Amino acid sequence: SQQNREQWGTRAGFLLAAIGSAVGLGNIWRFPYVAYDNGGGAFLVPYLVALLTAGIPLLILEYAIGHRFRASPPAAFRRLARPAEPLGWWQVGICFVISVYYALIVAWGIRYAGFSVTQAWGEQTEAFLYEDFLHVADAPGAIGSYIPGVALPLIGVWIVVLVVLALGVRRGIEWANRIFIPLLAVLFLILVVQALFLDGAAAGLNAFFQPDWSSITDGSVWVAAYGQIFFTLSVGFGIMITYASYLRRKSDLAGSALVAGFANGSFELLAGIGVFATLGFMAGVENEPISQVATDGLGLAFVAFPQIINNIPFAPGLFGLLFFVSLVIAGLTSLVSIVEVVISSVRDRTGMSRLPAVLIVGGLIAVVSIAVFPTDQGLYLLDAADHFINQYGIALAGLVIVVVVAWGLRRLRSLREHTDAVSSVPLRGWWPVALGVITPIVLGFMMWDSLSAEFAENYGGYPTWFLYAAGWGVAVGVIVVAVLISLIPWKRRAGDEDDSN
Ligand code: PHE
Ligand code: NA
Repeated sequence: SQQNREQWGTRAGFLLAAIGSAVGLGNIWRFPYVAYDNGGGAFLVPYLVALLTAGIPLLILEYAIGHRFRASPPAAFRRLARPAEPLGWWQVGICFVISVYYALIVAWGIRYAGFSVTQAWGEQTEAFLYEDFLHVADAPGAIGSYIPGVALPLIGVWIVVLVVLALGVRRGIEWANRIFIPLLAVLFLILVVQALFLDGAAAGLNAFFQPDWSSITDGSVWVAAYGQIFFTLSVGFGIMITYASYLRRKSDLAGSALVAGFANGSFELLAGIGVFATLGFMAGVENEPISQVATDGLGLAFVAFPQIINNIPFAPGLFGLLFFVSLVIAGLTSLVSIVEVVISSVRDRTGMSRLPAVLIVGGLIAVVSIAVFPTDQGLYLLDAADHFINQYGIALAGLVIVVVVAWGLRRLRSLREHTDAVSSVPLRGWWPVALGVITPIVLGFMMWDSLSAEFAENYGGYPTWFLYAAGWGVAVGVIVVAVLISLIPWKRRAGDEDDSN
C-alpha cells in the first residue's frame, strides 16, 4: 500500500500543515513569559542556538524518517530496524494522551471567545474561571460532577477534528491549514496592532526586550531555551514523521525544516510583542510593575486577559474575540496533527481505510476526552498528565530515539545521504554532531534535572497517590502498552523487511 499512500497536494500545503502543527498554545502563552523570565532580549541568543543545534536538526530527522520509510512512526521505525517498532508506538501513545486533554483547552477557548463579546466573566476573573466556569473540585479525587458548559464546546471541537481527518490528507488536513494558518496570521496581526495602541504598550515592550546579558552564562536559561524549542516545535512524538510520510519522493526536506522552524519562531516573537504590549497596559491600569502582572499559561489566557479586556477603552469585545479565536485556531491545527499520528499509525498497521479508522480510533479518543475532562476533576487531570507526558514522554522519547538512531543503529549517515539527495540545503557535518552529541547531552541533562526536582517535592503540591495515578501511571503506562502492541505479530506485507544499508 506504499504505492497508493495519500499525498499532499503542494509543497506549500505541507509547509502550512507543518507550521499549523508547530504554532500552538506554546507560542501564544508560553514563549512570551519564558523569554521575559530568562533574559528578555538576550534570550534570543540561547533560543537561536537551541533552534539550530537541536530543534531544526530534530525536525530534519523526523522528516527524513517519515519520508525515507513512507510510514507513520510504528511502521517507519520497524522498517528502520525491526526491534525499534516500540519507539513508534510510544509516540502514538504520547499523542493519544496529549490529544485527550489538549482538546479541552481549545474548548475553553471557544467558550471564552463567546464570553468576551459581553465580558460575561465579570470583575472576578479568577473566581469565574475556577468556580463558575470549571467548577473545579477542592482536591483531586473521584469525579464528582459533569460540566455541560465545557462538554458542549468540547464535543464541537471533536466533531471538527474528526471531520477534517475523515476528509483526508489533501482535502482535510491540507485544506484546513490553508485556510486556518493565513487566517490566524491576519487575526493575530490585527490583535497585535490593537495592543500596540494601548497605553503602556511601550513600557511592556521595553520590559520584554530589555536584554539581561548576564543570563547568557546562567545554565537554567539554556535549559529553558532548549525546553521551549522541544515544546514549541513538537519534535519527539512523531507528528513530523507522519506528515513527512505524505510527501512526494522529490521533496526539499532540509529547506522545509528551516522554513517551518523559523516561521514558528516568528510567530513566537509576534506573540511576545502582542502579549507584552498588553501586559504593559495592564501594569499601568493596576499601577504595578510589569514583573507583577507578567505570567503564562492558563493564568495568562483565562485570568489576566479577561481582566485586561475588561479595561480596554476601545472595542474590548473585538480584542477578546481576536485573542480567543487565535488561541482556538492555533490549538485546532495542532490537535489535528496529533490525532492524525494515531489514525495513520493504526491504518499502516492494520490496512484499515481512512473513514473507519477515523470513526473507530478517533471516536475512541473523542469519547475518552469527552467522558473524563469536562468534569470537576478535569483541570487536575490535565495538569498532571501534561506535566508528566511532557517530561517523561516527549523529552524522554526524544532522547531515546536520538540515541538509538545515532548510536545504537548508527543510521545518521544513511539518513543524511537520503536527505541530501532531495534537499536544497546540504546538511554537512553539523547535523550528525547536533543530533548525535549536542541533543543527547542537553536532553540527558534536562531529564536528570527534572527527575531530581520530581523527587525533591511533589509536582504542583498534589498528593502522591494522585501523581502515581495521573502522572507516572500515564507516562509509564504508555511505554508498557507500546511494548505490548509491538509484540503482536504482523501479517507479512511488502516493505515490512528491515531496511539495511
Ligand atoms: N508545539 C505546539 C505549541 O507550541 C504544541 C503542540 C502540542 C503541538 C501538541 C502539537 C501537539 O503550542
Ligand atoms: Na510552537
